[in-house]
Amino acid sequence: MAEDIAGSTITWTEGGVELSAGWRSENRSAAPTQVKVIGDDITADAAFRLARSGIGLLWRGDYHNGRQLMQALDRRFTRNHAGRAGSGRGRGAARGGRRTGRGSVRADAAETFSAERAFNAERSRLLGLLLVELGEGYALELRRAPEVRPACEAAYGVSDGPMCMSLTELGGVLSAHQWQLRGVAIDALGERIHPRYGVFSPIRGEYVDLVATTPFGSAPPATAFDLGTGTGVLAAVLLHRGIGTVVATDINPRAVACAQENLERLGFAGSASVVEADLFPPGRADLIVCNPPWLPADPTSALELGIYDPGSLVLRRFIDGLSDHLTDSGEGWLILSDLAEHLSLRTRQEFEECIRAAGLQVCDRYDTAPRHRRVSDADDALHQARSAETTSLWRLRRNA
Ligand SMILES: C[S@@+](CC[C@H](N)C(=O)[O-])C[C@H]1O[C@@H](n2cnc3c(N)ncnc32)[C@H](O)[C@@H]1O
Repeated sequence: MAEDIAGSTITWTEGGVELSAGWRSENRSAAPTQVKVIGDDITADAAFRLARSGIGLLWRGDYHNGRQLMQALDRRFTRNHAGRAGSGRGRGAARGGRRTGRGSVRADAAETFSAERAFNAERSRLLGLLLVELGEGYALELRRAPEVRPACEAAYGVSDGPMCMSLTELGGVLSAHQWQLRGVAIDALGERIHPRYGVFSPIRGEYVDLVATTPFGSAPPATAFDLGTGTGVLAAVLLHRGIGTVVATDINPRAVACAQENLERLGFAGSASVVEADLFPPGRADLIVCNPPWLPADPTSALELGIYDPGSLVLRRFIDGLSDHLTDSGEGWLILSDLAEHLSLRTRQEFEECIRAAGLQVCDRYDTAPRHRRVSDADDALHQARSAETTSLWRLRRNA
């Protein structure tokens, strides 16, 4: 992730007066050094030119017009990048890779993934230059603006004064709040899990079903750890299946608070504890479940800590540390998609070698196919890899 820039400010001139406010950016991008105040009279082309030269655009017009301007900027950006690898809709050139031999197809998959991330980063940098100011108590003083205070308080806590942020980030906060209020239905629980802003959400249910259906030995284990618990969904499924106590950990403080909230709401407060920790809590457990970030790449925000794992380090440290944290007959359940393999970011051999080197054996594996929409989206730059993806639960035990 980029540098911690908490406490930074943004300044601009308006009506001849120099003004400033706090600067907030979830992906820790720096505040634009040049800011121009704009309103309903600006054309999308003019705004696009300004944003392309790195100028922040502080929106003072109608809220809905501001959102339309953002979409217009997005269309211009995507149009300008059409045809380049990983550059939005219709970027089929890089999609399947050139079929001149297995090696080049593999290399192309990794290149496409990297180009896709670069495209998304550049797009988010450009769109992130359209800014709004929130006053005391997260007051958004734009015509036809919605009430944003409850969503901002849920994401950031109580307001500590006026601040500026990008309109895209505000959109993310509002949509996350809707998910938090509504929750995500978890069939295995017959209940809803309520994700928070910045916490990995279990919208893809198939991996949850793997944990819900993988058989225990003769009886549910007495103790379990759920490492990287996110919303606490897997800890809840384990407790629902009759496991005695679960210690859940996460490195993201928002996830810790979110998991605590969900487990309490579901009535598991007495049998679950959630702690902020880097992977393992102290002690041993009969079952250790981990659904680590699946793709070896750099995260750019706390939310992306749930998706990207540089050098597959979290995965490796989980496998390496398992023996020292399992009881004698204990089992590790690792949930992992093979998307990284289809993208040539990790090989199956490397993964299996890591298991062997840790003195572990695979005693079973349960597979499932992803059901999310992107799998069938032939326009997705990563379609070929996504359509071949399998998610597996690997049962690991110490070698006898
Ligand atoms: C793929 S998400 C899984 C979340 C949840 N267990 C689920 O299945 O929905 C991975 C989680 O691991 C957490 N995480 C990443 N690195 C970690 C670390 N070193 N220690 C603990 N948690 C970590 C992330 O914050 C994220 O919540």
